[in-house]
Amino acid sequence: MSLSFETLPVNKLYKLKECCNDLMAYQKSLATIKPELFDAMNFESRLVPSVEKAIHNHIIVAKDDNQIIGYAYVNISPKETYSNEFATFFDLSTVSHAYVGCLSQFYIHDAYRKSGVGSKLFSLSMEWLEQHEDIEDIFIFVSNGNTIALEFYKRKGFKVSHDILEGFITVLRN
Ligand SMILES: CC(C)(COP(=O)(O)OP(=O)(O)OC[C@H]1O[C@@H](n2cnc3c(N)ncnc32)[C@H](O)[C@@H]1OP(=O)(O)O)[C@@H](O)C(=O)NCCC(=O)NCCS
Repeated sequence: MSLSFETLPVNKLYKLKECCNDLMAYQKSLATIKPELFDAMNFESRLVPSVEKAIHNHIIVAKDDNQIIGYAYVNISPKETYSNEFATFFDLSTVSHAYVGCLSQFYIHDAYRKSGVGSKLFSLSMEWLEQHEDIEDIFIFVSNGNTIALEFYKRKGFKVSHDILEGFITVLRN
C-alpha cells in the first residue's frame, strides 16, 4: 500500500463518478427514512451541480498508487443555496456571514476505512475551509442510518443541530 493525498482539479471531476455513486448506494443501504430519495442521487445529479453552484470548490483525493480510494469534497456557497425546492437545510438567520462552508461529500473505499485516511482527508478539508476568512459556519449533512459517519463528525468536534425532511438528514454544525 502506497497512500498519497492530492487536490483534484475540477476538470477531472469525472474521476469521482464511481466513488460518488458508491457513496449514494452506501447511504441508501443504511437509510430507513425515505431511502427512495437516493434513487435520484448520483454523480450527475449531486456532485456535478454542487461544483457548478458553489463559488469555491476543493476536492482532495486519497490514492493507493494511482488508484483513487477516497475523496473529500468541500465548498463555499452563498447561504441562500441551502434553501431550495428540496429543503431548507438550516435557518438562514442563524448564519451571520453571507457564505457558508460545507463538507459536501466524503467517501473512503470500505477496504481502506479505519486506517486514518478519513481523518487525514477531514483535517485537510477543514484547513482549506478555515483559510477562508469570509466564512464562519461549516455544515455537514448526514443521511439517516449513517451512525458511523455521524459519530466520526462528533468526535471531530461537530455538533448535531437538527433534523430535516422528517429525519432523512441530520444537520451538523461546527
Ligand atoms: C466516515 C468515513 C469517511 C471515515 O473514514 P475512515 O477512513 O474510516 O476514518 P478514520 O480511519 O480516520 O477514523 C475512523 C475510526 O477508525 C479508527 N482508526 C483510525 N485509524 C486507525 C488505525 N490506524 N488503526 C485502528 N483503528 C483506527 C478510529 O476508531 C477512528 O475513529 P477516531 O475518529 O476516534 O479517530 C468512512 O467510514 C466512510 O467512507 N464511510 C462511508 C461513506 C460515508 O459514510 N461518508 C460520509 C457521508 S456524510
